[in-house]
Parts: sequence; C-alpha cells; structure tokens
Amino acid sequence: MATVKLENIYKSFGETEVLFDINLEINDKEFVVFVGPSGCGKTTLLRIISGLEETTSGKVIIDNKDVSNSPPVDRGISMVFQSYALYPHLSVFENIAFPLRVAKTNENELEEKVFRAADILQLRDRLDFKPGQLSGGQRQRVAIGRSIVRDPKVFLFDEPLSNLDAALRGDMRVELAKLHQNLNTTMIYVTHDQIEAMTMADKIVVLHDGIIEQVGSPMDLYHNPRTKFVAGFIGHPNMNFLKTSATIINKVHLATNIGDSEMNFPIEAGDTKSGDEIEIGIRPEDIELSSKDGVPMRVDVVEHIGATIILYGSVLDNDNFCAVLPSDSVIKPGDNIYLTIDPLKCHAFNMSGQALQRS
Ligand SMILES: Nc1ncnc2c1ncn2[C@@H]1O[C@H](COP(=O)(O)OP(=O)(O)OP(=O)(O)O)[C@@H](O)[C@H]1O
Ligand SMILES: [Mg+2]
Repeated sequence: MATVKLENIYKSFGETEVLFDINLEINDKEFVVFVGPSGCGKTTLLRIISGLEETTSGKVIIDNKDVSNSPPVDRGISMVFQSYALYPHLSVFENIAFPLRVAKTNENELEEKVFRAADILQLRDRLDFKPGQLSGGQRQRVAIGRSIVRDPKVFLFDEPLSNLDAALRGDMRVELAKLHQNLNTTMIYVTHDQIEAMTMADKIVVLHDGIIEQVGSPMDLYHNPRTKFVAGFIGHPNMNFLKTSATIINKVHLATNIGDSEMNFPIEAGDTKSGDEIEIGIRPEDIELSSKDGVPMRVDVVEHIGATIILYGSVLDNDNFCAVLPSDSVIKPGDNIYLTIDPLKCHAFNMSGQALQRS
C-alpha cells in the first residue's frame, strides 16, 4: 500500500517562485508521469516528494502519514536519476548491492535481493561485468536495480532515459512498463517527452510554469484538453491552431469561417460573444485530403514515414501547419492542396487559452 498525497505545496528558491499550490492524489500502484517543458518544476516536485528538497509550505503525505518533515530515509521511497552514477570499479553485482551493504544487510538476504533484481532486469548474466562493459540501457537497468533492492514503497524516476538513443529509449519504455507490472508498486516518473508520458502513464500530470495544468489518463488529455497548452503539448505531431472569429449561433453552437469554409461547431459559447477571436485546434491526424474545395494548404515539406506521410506548410495565418495523410497520397513540396477538417473533431480555445466546452 503506497498512496501519495500532495496538499497545497508551494516552493520558492529565494525570490524565485517555482511551484504554486500543487494538489495531487496518487493512488496505490499507479504509474504517474509528471510531464512539462524544461524549467516547469518537475524535478523540484519530485525532490520534494523524496525529501531531498523542503517545501516552502504545504504537505507531503505518504500512506496517510504526513512526512513533510521526515528525512528521505524515513519515507520509503527510492529515486533513480538521469545520470545513473554507477561506481566504475565495482561489478554490476556490487553496484546493485551497494545500498544493502550500507544498511549492513546479511549476506544471504543481500544475495537473494540482488539476484531477484537482476532477474527482473535481465542482468543475471552481467553480474560480474563492470559498468564500462555495459551498454547505456544496461547501465540504466543497474541503476534501477540499485533502487529495487531497497524494496521502496514508491519509485521516483527523473528522466531516466534521456541519455539513451531513440531506439534504446523505446526498448526501455517497454521494460519500465513491464517492471511496473512485475513490482506492482507506485511509480512517479518525470519526463519532458510527451510520448513517454502517453505510452507509460496510468495518469499524466501536466505541469506548466509551476502549476498543474491538468491531470488525467493519456486518452482523456488527448481527447479533452482543458487548455491550449495541454492541447499543444499532448499528441504528436502537435495540434495545429488557427485564429478566427466566432459567430454564436445559439448557446451550444458556435460557427466560424476557416478560409472560405463555414464551420459549425457543437461547442458551448460560454462567455464567448460573436466577433470574439478564438483559436480552433486541429490534430494533424484528424485531417483528410479533399479533391477540391475545403481548406487550402500550401505544402512546403513532405516526410515519408511508411504508413503515413506528414505534410508541413501554410494554412491561413499558420505557417507551421501539419497534416498526417495516408502514404498513398501523391503530394510533393510546392503543391497547393485542399483539406477536409471535421468540426466534430476540432477543439476551440478562447484567447486566454481556455478550452470552450463541447456540448
Ligand atoms: N536550487 C535552486 N536554486 C534556485 N532555483 C532553482 C533551484 N532548483 C531549481 N530552480 C529553478 O526552479 C525552476 C524549476 O526547476 P526544475 O529543475 O524543477 O525544472 P524541470 O521541470 O525539472 O526542468 P528540466 O526539464 O529542465 O529538468 C527553474 O526555473 C530552476 O531554475
Ligand atoms: Mg528536471
């Protein structure tokens, strides 16, 4: 049993305010990912949970116990960092065993725990190697092994894969997901990579400038982003935005022109009035090619991915517009094409970046 609850957490470093009123509940055995751009406060929040950093105010509650003033060793957590800092002169076995040696664990129990961790991480045949003889992914697994042997109630990971190349990151993502299934422990994982967040999380926490923008399952954030920031951050390639002005048809229908096409959205007008500027959000994968009419796009770049092609170019005021189409679409740079955009799949935001509610 390991739940984590954060209550009204604020953090400043001197004059610099870094976290504002963070409230969050993490369930037992949940895989939670903190995601957000560089400098938004992810590492600071993780260090506050671990006890390596003090809060300015607010509470950290682990397993219903207020640990806000407890030192890291008393919190039952273990943290894996981006730089895995192994001891180069020690074998893999001794690197994994290190925290147990410090705790003066008896030899039988120590061996049992190291072997169990090595089995989970598929390092059994590497136990006599030195870190210098391992690949990047294997070294990262040794660092994870070092935290597994401590039997923590909660694992904290701070960008553990960012030193690895793209292929290895993909492999390690799968391994970490398996590790979570095997260990069945609460895990909190920090990344600025939304693909890692989408693929691994039960629950994603999107941080932006020290506040929580939104908390939800990956698909919830993908389908129902509450702000333009979340909409633009979650999903790959990124959502497109087009500025336009709204026409209110009635309380639950809003219309606008995109180019020459009038579109009618089942979106609640809320405080939006006719003539107000709004932004329409369109996911690249929700776009289709139309034979003519539709929204004109001038294509600058065509990327062939395999099953799909990705087009980059200009649509109205947006010069970085992106569309994903089937690979049999014959399109080349310089082409002027027409797109079909389904209003039922679009999102709308007011100019302060809040999503207008779908009706
Ligand atoms: N010890 C410190 N003293 C002063 N400012 C700090 C300190 N640690 C972090 N900060 C500031 O707090 C903010 C958040 O930092 P943090 O390391 O939590 O960001 P992050 O989201 O982990 O970013 P990244 O993705 O780059 O790792 C930054 O603006 C940073 O400059
Ligand atoms: Mg960080």
